[in-house]
Amino acid sequence: MARKLSLTHLMLLALTWRGTVVQCLALTAGSPAVDPPEDLLISDPGHLGHLDISWSVPAAVRNLTPECARCVYQLEYFNTNTGSWSAVRTARRSYRAQFDLMKDVRVRVYTLLDGPCTNSTVIKSQNYTEVVRRPAGTGVVGTEVQDFLCVYQNMKHLECRWRRSLKTPADSLQSFYFWHRELDHAEECPKYIMLGGVRSGCDFTDKPLPDFTDINFCVNGSSPDGLLRPSFFSLQIQNHVKPEPAQLHLHVEADQLQLQWERPAGRVPGHCLDWEVEQNQEGPDGKMKSEKVNVQQTSFALTSVHDKDRSCFRVRSKLSRYCADRSFWSEWSQPACYPEEEAVPEPEPDLVLVYVYVAIAIIAMLVVLLCVGLVLKVRRSRKTKKPDSLLTTLFARNSAVVATEA
Ligand SMILES: *[C@@H]1O[C@H](CO)[C@@H](O)[C@H](O)[C@H]1NC(C)=O
Ligand SMILES: *[C@@H]1O[C@H](CO)[C@@H](O)[C@H](O)[C@H]1NC(C)=O
Ligand SMILES: *[C@@H]1O[C@H](CO)[C@@H](O)[C@H](O)[C@H]1NC(C)=O
Repeated sequence: MARKLSLTHLMLLALTWRGTVVQCLALTAGSPAVDPPEDLLISDPGHLGHLDISWSVPAAVRNLTPECARCVYQLEYFNTNTGSWSAVRTARRSYRAQFDLMKDVRVRVYTLLDGPCTNSTVIKSQNYTEVVRRPAGTGVVGTEVQDFLCVYQNMKHLECRWRRSLKTPADSLQSFYFWHRELDHAEECPKYIMLGGVRSGCDFTDKPLPDFTDINFCVNGSSPDGLLRPSFFSLQIQNHVKPEPAQLHLHVEADQLQLQWERPAGRVPGHCLDWEVEQNQEGPDGKMKSEKVNVQQTSFALTSVHDKDRSCFRVRSKLSRYCADRSFWSEWSQPACYPEEEAVPEPEPDLVLVYVYVAIAIIAMLVVLLCVGLVLKVRRSRKTKKPDSLLTTLFARNSAVVATEA
């Protein structure tokens, strides 16, 4: 039935595209198989994870006439960041994608045939061509860096830091490289951050990096025991912003406690910031109670003002999820308290302490003098009297004096 239909249709096709009939017959009336692409290749141009993938047209399709050979390719690759497969369709025979070079790179490509010869339906190759690229696996085992972290301070200073693994030989030299789309080749860190005499980070203050594009990083190096195992990272810097701490002001207005703060100056868009207000209140029982409130605006009002219980407030901010996938919390602002600390009417506490010290010193001196006087007196009395233990002498002092006089 299906075959009949397809044959009728092919006759129609033959009337329209006389020249291409032979090839098309093979395609639709014969096996529905379209071969997957050939010569699939993954190559590394040295962009620290941005790999080139290329393939060629399958032989069966190459033999078709140009009208029939309207191929599209479906490329699927395993995305190690999301742990799932990503798929793209392209008419080209090459593609570039981002991979983690510390993990397997797995790529599959299908052929999709479309156009007049397939009755305008898409025929997909039943199988795919697959290539798996394993990590190079070179370098001393266990020398990958740890705790790699980049912080984009107030969208102005980007700093990336890492920690050496314990297996890294003491006198190894680590190097840090980066690449993004605007660079022809990977470049080395413009300014290393040193910690304890070893490279432990990179400061990009004088070399701004573009946002909203993948930046690839690599920490590699050498040691007397051989090369260190390279570590690769990829990130977009707008997802690593840490806003500057705010200045918090506090005043009472119409029985309301008003908290107010300013947005940090600089490139961080004000509307992007989410705020967190923290209230620490000391209850009558001396226990601290902490509460947090999230707000969008840069002010906050409290209606119930308990004059007796002192409250301290601080705020911090981070980029909202509408502006960035992720963000770091800023540091807390300096705390502002209500009621403020009452001014102490008594003499300054420092002065009181000085008085106390002077008094203690005088008393101590008097005691020492007394003791010295006592000892001297005892010695003198020993010279005149036969030696005896000090205690006995002290206890018997009065009677002894009486005895010698007598
Ligand atoms: C071609 O497509 C038409 C409509 O899209 C359909 O009715 C017909 O069966 C198809 N012919 C073949 C051979 O697939
Ligand atoms: C599909 O292709 C892969 C290699 O690319 C091969 O290992 C597998 O056996 C093929 N499957 C079928 C059903 O032909
Ligand atoms: C580290 O990586 C960079 C960039 O790929 C490369 O130029 C350099 O030779 C590597 N260094 C070592 C010691 O492997």
